[in-house]
Amino acid sequence: MSLLLSPTEIAGLSLNNRVVLAPMCMFEVEKEDGVLTPFHFAHYGARAIAKAGLIIIEATGVEPDGRISNRDLGLWNDEQAVELKKLVDMLHALGSKVGIQLGHAGRKAENAEVLIASSAIPFSNEYGTPNAMTNEEIERVQASFVAAAERAAVAGVDMIELHGAHGYLINQFLSPLTNERTDAYGGSLENRYLFAKEIIEQIRGSFNGSLWIRLSLTAYADSEKQNSLDEWKTIGKWLEKDGIDCIDVSTGGLLDRKPNIPVRPGYQVPYTSAMKEAVSIPVTAVGLLDNPGLCEHILQTKQADLILQGRALIRNVNWLADAAEELRDTNFEVYNHSYQRGQRRR
Ligand SMILES: Cc1cc2nc3c(=O)[nH]c(=O)nc-3n(C[C@H](O)[C@H](O)[C@H](O)COP(=O)(O)O)c2cc1C
Repeated sequence: MSLLLSPTEIAGLSLNNRVVLAPMCMFEVEKEDGVLTPFHFAHYGARAIAKAGLIIIEATGVEPDGRISNRDLGLWNDEQAVELKKLVDMLHALGSKVGIQLGHAGRKAENAEVLIASSAIPFSNEYGTPNAMTNEEIERVQASFVAAAERAAVAGVDMIELHGAHGYLINQFLSPLTNERTDAYGGSLENRYLFAKEIIEQIRGSFNGSLWIRLSLTAYADSEKQNSLDEWKTIGKWLEKDGIDCIDVSTGGLLDRKPNIPVRPGYQVPYTSAMKEAVSIPVTAVGLLDNPGLCEHILQTKQADLILQGRALIRNVNWLADAAEELRDTNFEVYNHSYQRGQRRR
């Protein structure tokens, strides 16, 4: 029996195993209305049948201009919420727990009519210069997060993940590289955290499901210019105190640059284990964790509490069954008897 594939009670969730489908934008909303399409039902449904313990639905914009691209999902209106409920019900019926990642792309919104960010600093030459958000805009975007969370809760999700990583709006507020504000939302680490804190507190007022946040623990920048690992740990402690149930640790995306560390299997795990030193809530690992033995080792050695799988589960929907075979975990059961027959190769 492996830790990877055995059931667990974690972050307020009862999961069939510790494999989580990482949030991954599918860019499949052809009508650009933010509404789920048949593709999404088939894509997420297949991963539920494949027994992913928790499925995190891709980055979903809380406002039209908060989408990474116009082909992203949205959750700012009731039509989007109605379809979300159908997807959540379907995934529950197939046996998975369901989460959704809510985000605002800020200065990285590719098709925004009005580009906004913590400060007026463009991401790269290919992006426009965003407007530094006014207090009214801060309040409006925070309210949009809360309204989207309420819609997600009504749709029945078990978990909401705030997208605080990869250089999107929450990340833009958190980092001194992208936040040069001189008001209550800028300056000290505590001030840069305020934007996220207020969103979390407001969501916590009405949502009692599992509330996660994804963070990028390095921007691959000079250490004296970016938040240090100790500062991220301080943020982790504040997040725990403010009601976050799990921290999903990633890296990069804030600046237009490639990783300055070797990108090899498990390359982000040291950031996960560093965060685990600071908090008592669960912390997840993601990034090139295709090898089931490596995943099991990371869990056994308590470097992470859950494993997120991204590209491996796009490439191979049968990743969990293959992992069971590799780990010789005979307790893992594929979806049904017919799928069991499918596992027999002769
Ligand atoms: C097609 C694609 C879309 C992605 N979209 C998102 C997203 O919506 N939100 C997010 O936080 N990360 C996103 N990511 C990053 C993944 O969640 C994950 O962190 C990354 O792919 C590394 O994990 P992996 O090696 O298992 O793929 C995306 C990655 C891919 C490949």
